[in-house]
Amino acid sequence: MRVLVTGGAGYIGSTAVAILLERGYEVTVLDDCSTGHFESVPSSAKFISGSILDSKALAEALADCAAVIHFAAKSIVGESVEKPDLYHEVNVEGTRRLLDEMARLGVSKLVFSSTAATYGEPEIIPITEESPTVPTSPYGRTKLEVDQMITAESRLGLAAVSLRYFNVAGAFNSKSGWLTERHSPETHLIPNLLRASVANPLKVFGNDWPTADGTCIRDYVHVVDLIDAHILALEKLTASKHEIINLGSGGGYSVTQVIDAAAKVVGSDIPTQISARRSGDPAVLIADISKAKKVLGWIPTRNIKDMVSDTWKSQNASASK
Ligand SMILES: NC(=O)c1ccc[n+]([C@@H]2O[C@H](COP(=O)([O-])OP(=O)(O)OC[C@H]3O[C@@H](n4cnc5c(N)ncnc54)[C@H](O)[C@@H]3O)[C@@H](O)[C@H]2O)c1
Repeated sequence: MRVLVTGGAGYIGSTAVAILLERGYEVTVLDDCSTGHFESVPSSAKFISGSILDSKALAEALADCAAVIHFAAKSIVGESVEKPDLYHEVNVEGTRRLLDEMARLGVSKLVFSSTAATYGEPEIIPITEESPTVPTSPYGRTKLEVDQMITAESRLGLAAVSLRYFNVAGAFNSKSGWLTERHSPETHLIPNLLRASVANPLKVFGNDWPTADGTCIRDYVHVVDLIDAHILALEKLTASKHEIINLGSGGGYSVTQVIDAAAKVVGSDIPTQISARRSGDPAVLIADISKAKKVLGWIPTRNIKDMVSDTWKSQNASASK
């Protein structure tokens, strides 16, 4: 089966492309490389340079595809506060055009990258798929709007799964080399702490949160486990049904615990600097992943040490190139 991967030049998308190819799928990538990297796309994938906002590019990309995994999006929370119209245009309008082209061409299977940011500040931990959705950023609102759009489309026959990721981390050693996070700016903890130095220490946003060590707790999932869940979802899609499923590890690590794990991996202390809390940051975000286990038969197998050590190896491999 040929699968269209939108955003297949990005961090998570390129990992998906490499793993899909290794498992025997044919893959087409549609990406405008606004935040992704052409060289991250394996050469055996068909690459179409273009935007999901361009219906012609979408039609070209959808040719011969039986299903779509839709990663393409703007995804930096802080930037979404500064540029809400851009986020609405790419994330909501772009997905609208993708769904329209899929309906026109009879492509009726979709796996969508949703996010824990659709839930906002949770009242109850762990967060289930039934938890209230009160996003606190334009980014989270656009993803929730897309989830609702997909539900409406499923009533017309679309088979869809929205996967709500918590914090994705780690890297994948593909046949053509490491695929890893290369965001600019990089807002994610693990790649940033591995680049911290005495001159440029890691900023820890608050050490007075109501948690055991005072730092925020997040739920990290390895990118390879995450893609396994996408492939399971792809294989379980059912016509006229839209499932929403959380993907995390089901447990949390504080910022301090991640820093300690990283210090063990690199064999030296990570230089840090405590700064003020960021507004809108919840103290604790942990996923309830029982639905992923039940519906997809998915169990994440990689822990925080694997995530840190794979990111470390991938950073060292790109530094030595
Ligand atoms: N990284 C995380 O922890 C995380 C957590 C929750 C959800 N997500 C979601 O996962 C998806 C992938 O995230 P990522 O971390 O790999 O981000 P990324 O920025 O590395 O990848 C996004 C890709 O989409 C492409 N793109 C953006 N706008 C486009 C457009 N108009 N047309 C075509 N391509 C376009 C970019 O060039 C990039 O290659 C996003 O939808 C994001 O919202 C990520």
